[in-house]
Amino acid sequence: MSKFNRILLTGAAGALGKVLRVGLAPLATHLRLSDVQPLGDADDNEELVPADLADFDAVMDLCKDVDMVAHFGGKAVEGTSKEVFSSNITGGYNIYEACRRNGVKRVVFASSNHSIGYYKRTERIDDQVPHRPDTLYGVSKAFTEDLASFYWDKFGLETVSLRIGSCFPEPKDRRMLATWMSHRDLVQLVSRSLAAPYVGFHAVYGVSDNTEQFWDTSSARLIGYRPEDNAEVYREKVEAATSPQELDDPALIYAGGMYTAFPHYDDEQT
Ligand SMILES: NC(=O)c1ccc[n+]([C@@H]2O[C@H](COP(=O)([O-])OP(=O)(O)OC[C@H]3O[C@@H](n4cnc5c(N)ncnc54)[C@H](O)[C@@H]3O)[C@@H](O)[C@H]2O)c1
Repeated sequence: MSKFNRILLTGAAGALGKVLRVGLAPLATHLRLSDVQPLGDADDNEELVPADLADFDAVMDLCKDVDMVAHFGGKAVEGTSKEVFSSNITGGYNIYEACRRNGVKRVVFASSNHSIGYYKRTERIDDQVPHRPDTLYGVSKAFTEDLASFYWDKFGLETVSLRIGSCFPEPKDRRMLATWMSHRDLVQLVSRSLAAPYVGFHAVYGVSDNTEQFWDTSSARLIGYRPEDNAEVYREKVEAATSPQELDDPALIYAGGMYTAFPHYDDEQT
């Protein structure tokens, strides 16, 4: 794979950011790492630039002299409207606008399956279906995917939106036997998304080569993604540790799982 001069990784102090900090290092002469949480000490090829994604001026500085951005920063689960909108909607807008003004070529965006979480598990959906978000968090991911579409059509800024399923060291519950993506496959998917010669505006499902699958993952082949792991090897362990869900459990009916049953988080604030 060709080597970039500088890649920006947002959310670098997060769970996936820590994996990508190591995994993307060979791809760039300079890896610029950003987060609001501590980032530790810089390695030889690393630049540490702390920034709040909601602060436009800070994000403008972050995106200077950058070839491509792996945008993994933001609220990564459901939250209050204030939390989700500030980090993900304002933060997403700031990233795209700062990329446009700084001439950045491409964003690899950590979207989520929760942007389409209200499709049923029994529906075979691909990357072309309309959004059906299951939470405010899912709405924020759908918004940023639309922002990405707009910035491609109007300004030629490319995006690969990764609708990540469940990216953990191992699948933790029965749903994850279908939605799991290994850390190794994550690094491959992000690396391919950065290195593919042309992506335009492209959405892919970020899952491993699981025997059980909810989504049509064929669009990931365009960028050369060939997952190496399969959640099936954990099935016995997961089934021994968890109970089967009731047939009317929304977590069993919808691809978004238990997120479809979450309340509105602002209700707890009032
Ligand atoms: N882990 C998964 O299975 C999964 C699934 C779907 C999507 N994703 C997406 O992948 C990305 C990374 O997920 P993760 O599991 O590593 O989550 P994480 O919470 O561990 O990491 C997110 C990072 O973003 C940072 N952040 C939050 N708000 C910020 C702000 N306003 N300014 C700057 N930094 C901010 C946090 O400090 C954190 O370090 C997220 O966008 C998440 O929505 C993850």
